[in-house]
Amino acid sequence: MNYQFGLIGYPVNHSLSPWIHQQFMSAVGLEGAYLLFETPVEKLDERLKQLKQDQIHGFNVTVPYKQKVMAFLDEVDADADRIGAVNTVVNQGGRWKGYNTDGIGYIRSLRKEFPDLFSSEKRVLILGAGGAARGIYRVLVNAGFQKVDIANRTKEKAEGLLDLQEVHTETAIYGYKEAEDTLDKYDLIVQTTSVGMSPDKGKQIISLKKLHPHTVVSDIIYNPLTTQLLQEASDQGARVHRGHTMLLYQARYAFEIWTGTQPAMNGIVSQLEKRLR
Ligand code: ATR
Repeated sequence: MNYQFGLIGYPVNHSLSPWIHQQFMSAVGLEGAYLLFETPVEKLDERLKQLKQDQIHGFNVTVPYKQKVMAFLDEVDADADRIGAVNTVVNQGGRWKGYNTDGIGYIRSLRKEFPDLFSSEKRVLILGAGGAARGIYRVLVNAGFQKVDIANRTKEKAEGLLDLQEVHTETAIYGYKEAEDTLDKYDLIVQTTSVGMSPDKGKQIISLKKLHPHTVVSDIIYNPLTTQLLQEASDQGARVHRGHTMLLYQARYAFEIWTGTQPAMNGIVSQLEKRLR
């Protein structure tokens, strides 16, 4: 079989996804192509109709269509439905089903590097309350973390994440200044905003003055490979979890949904690091 995959969004021209999925296909011995479908909003309808006609096997969805695409699906996975965003669509015999692989991708990448963090009494702080934060909050709660706080510029937006809980979790909501003052109580801090992303790579969402060196600091940004926030964390002796691993694991979960196979990751992680350096 010759698989057809792709990515819909605007813009998508600099996406690493074609490279990542080609690596996965080679790793498991599948033939296929992963194409970039850069689509302005007025062409979204037409593009999706064309993909349906072409019987594409699966595609990813990125900014700004993660919500909009949901109206075109035959079924939405329960997690994606609660999060309110789809980043992966699979064609199941002509029926399109949507998933969100960000949260699972995040937690799998974290577990791989920091298995010691996975115990319910560990305290987590999420910075940000956008789409990525929603997915990550939900999987952390579902994975059994019982204390997951959120800090955001807009507190009301952070409150919206509380609806994603299915099991009881203690969640306090802070502004960034308040969070900075009590940073030392956390075992894991997860940065989910776009602050610090290239070209604004000198920016940092919070100061880490009060960071305790036992804390793992995680940033979902992968460009730059090491953000200013992670650099400061590392300078203070803390362990860091970089965003390129989440990028790979969310892509791998999408690939698994499409093909039923799980490519080995070993070589791919270090090759991606080289590309991002
Ligand atoms: P995504 O879906 O990629 O997570 P989003 O929904 O636009 O993107 O969410 C962006 C997150 O980054 C939000 O937490 C946003 O804060 P607000 O909810 O207060 O808007 C945060 N964010 C973006 N730019 C920011 C900035 N310059 N300063 C502080 N927070 C910022």
